[in-house]
Amino acid sequence: MTDKIAIIGTGLVGSGWAIVFARGGCEVSLYDSAEGAAERAKALIAGQLEELATYGLLDDAPATVMGRISVAPSLAEALRGALYAQESVLERVDVKRPLFAEIDAVIGPETMVGSSSSGIPASLYTDHIACKSRCLVAHPVNPPYLAPIVELVPAPWTAPETVKAVRALMERVGQAPVEATREVEGFILNRLQGVLLMEAWRLVEEGICTAQDLDTTMSQGLGLRWAFMGPFETIDLNAPGGIADYARRLGPLYRNIAASTAEHRLWDEALIGKLEAQRREFLPADKLADRRAWRDRRLMALAKHMKEMRQEKDA
Ligand SMILES: NC(=O)c1ccc[n+]([C@@H]2O[C@H](COP(=O)([O-])OP(=O)(O)OC[C@H]3O[C@@H](n4cnc5c(N)ncnc54)[C@H](O)[C@@H]3O)[C@@H](O)[C@H]2O)c1
Repeated sequence: MTDKIAIIGTGLVGSGWAIVFARGGCEVSLYDSAEGAAERAKALIAGQLEELATYGLLDDAPATVMGRISVAPSLAEALRGALYAQESVLERVDVKRPLFAEIDAVIGPETMVGSSSSGIPASLYTDHIACKSRCLVAHPVNPPYLAPIVELVPAPWTAPETVKAVRALMERVGQAPVEATREVEGFILNRLQGVLLMEAWRLVEEGICTAQDLDTTMSQGLGLRWAFMGPFETIDLNAPGGIADYARRLGPLYRNIAASTAEHRLWDEALIGKLEAQRREFLPADKLADRRAWRDRRLMALAKHMKEMRQEKDA
């Protein structure tokens, strides 16, 4: 039987999730509380599917994938018979909390719920509901149909079977789930991004390098490997004796670097102005939208390359 998935909140992220599940063969039911929002999302999805097809990122015809997506008249209808619901409403406790109570009132006994929450842990909006053992955070990177990572973060009361079942579902539809064992601010991805960004801002603040040279260091250096392997695999390959050899050779250097940057403070307006000026010199504000469209096209070409790489590995 085809799995049914409810998408609750069909903005940027919810409509991206709809593509993931429909592309993966699931029946997808869209629900959004704003009048006409789910219909508008459906129209946008149709265009995105056409674009994905031109990059070879769809196994079925766009019309076949579209045929799996429908708009539900109510939250209860969207959830009826669903294996899983992906909540993607605003990043606010005062919006998520009442919504989870509404979900709880109509949800079936088997349905699990993942929240796209970028940083708010599920314990802040699922403590008051009966189905809380079937709720967790399933945090994507935007757009989820091009970036397969999904961080599964259980609340203290999330059942281990829920994590296991959501992980299996995500793998079935081609995502790359990772698991945090417990809630932590920023989960895994944004904690890593946070460390890198803090240091990047600091290097520019102290005049060690320009914003442009910092970005070049990533795009022409560190980032090349990081597109297909993580920092641990990178260092495992960067010393003759592997990761232990690397750690013994370069541990003191990294300890010194960490010790020299102990202070963590908010980016102030003067620093924000400095970075803004440097970025606008290379990319005027009126060119931001064009550059975003360029980034998405490059991301599609990269996603195609990554898909071929996974297929070679599986072959
Ligand atoms: N934008 C990103 O890059 C990104 C990446 C990862 C995760 N997220 C997370 O995903 C979630 C959604 O973000 P987004 O960028 O798609 O926001 P968005 O503003 O594009 O969409 C939110 C949608 O939720 C709907 N909504 C609001 N309250 C609702 C309710 N009670 N019931 C049903 N629908 C409701 C709104 O009408 C809107 O269509 C947030 O938690 C966000 O932090 C965002």
